[in-house]
Amino acid sequence: MELVTDPKELQNYLDQVRAEGKSIGLVPTMGFLHQGHISLIERAVTENDVVITTIFVNPLQFSANEDLSTYPRNIEKDTELCLEAGTNLLFTPAVEEMFCDTVLTSISVSNLSSVLEGVSRPTHFSGVATVVSKLFNIVGPCRSYFGEKDWQQLQIIRKMVIDLSYRVEVIGCPIIRDHDGLALSSRNIYLSSEERKVASIIPEALQNAHKKISSGETQAQPIKETISELILSSSDISVDYIEIVNGESLEPVIAVDEETRVLIAVRIGTTRLIDNINPHVGINPI
Ligand code: PAJ
Repeated sequence: MELVTDPKELQNYLDQVRAEGKSIGLVPTMGFLHQGHISLIERAVTENDVVITTIFVNPLQFSANEDLSTYPRNIEKDTELCLEAGTNLLFTPAVEEMFCDTVLTSISVSNLSSVLEGVSRPTHFSGVATVVSKLFNIVGPCRSYFGEKDWQQLQIIRKMVIDLSYRVEVIGCPIIRDHDGLALSSRNIYLSSEERKVASIIPEALQNAHKKISSGETQAQPIKETISELILSSSDISVDYIEIVNGESLEPVIAVDEETRVLIAVRIGTTRLIDNINPHVGINPI
């Protein structure tokens, strides 16, 4: 596995790869890798000749009061995991290698970025879109893999690719969950063991939406109520939002259909967690 930090060096490597007619898979991450990230790398390995994994804790997507300085990192373990999963080149640029002192350009995918996560994190998605756009420009035509865990992020990147004609095929990958259904996240490390137990209520509540639809409910409001009832039964969780939306436009729906997505954001102690499901499919195995 090649280790590269300089964007120019990555471009030279990829020029060579393209000259050999090989296909390229790109997996952007912020590191502290878990099985969710690894599933993206493994998928990329099965579908491409060469896989680039990137680890970059992107300052543009953190606001002043967020966890940029304490965001969990473990580059040694990440390097091992990338190697095991079949990454060909691990790209870990320093902040100075990615951005000059003042970045004046930003990509903003309006409407999709101001709802849901965007309400409490108004600058977050322009930070995400800007860094992902930069990675797409550095890497060039490729397939790029993103998790459905960050459903809104996935829709924003898909729209950016369409609007700006990137020669990138965006591939959404299913959410990888823990034994009790909690979606894996680098931020789960912030949870105390008590809080971690409490967190299992999140997938359970989402699964109730699936049960409700399976028993014939078609209206969004009662489904939303079932979810919030269970969540609010625990005094240790506060709800940021529970929304039932069209999965692509992210606009709220009144009645559910095959395109519907249920998204949730909660706080447990000081940790903010997000999750989502396709309520027609639900969560396996819970
Ligand atoms: P990060 O949170 O490290 O996630 C990297 C990728 O892994 C994202 O596409 C995310 O959706 C996916 N992922 C995380 N947890 C997952 C899970 N449990 N199952 C499946 N996929 C999962 O998302 C980011 O980084 C950043 O915003 C980034 C796109 C790298 C831009 O900085």
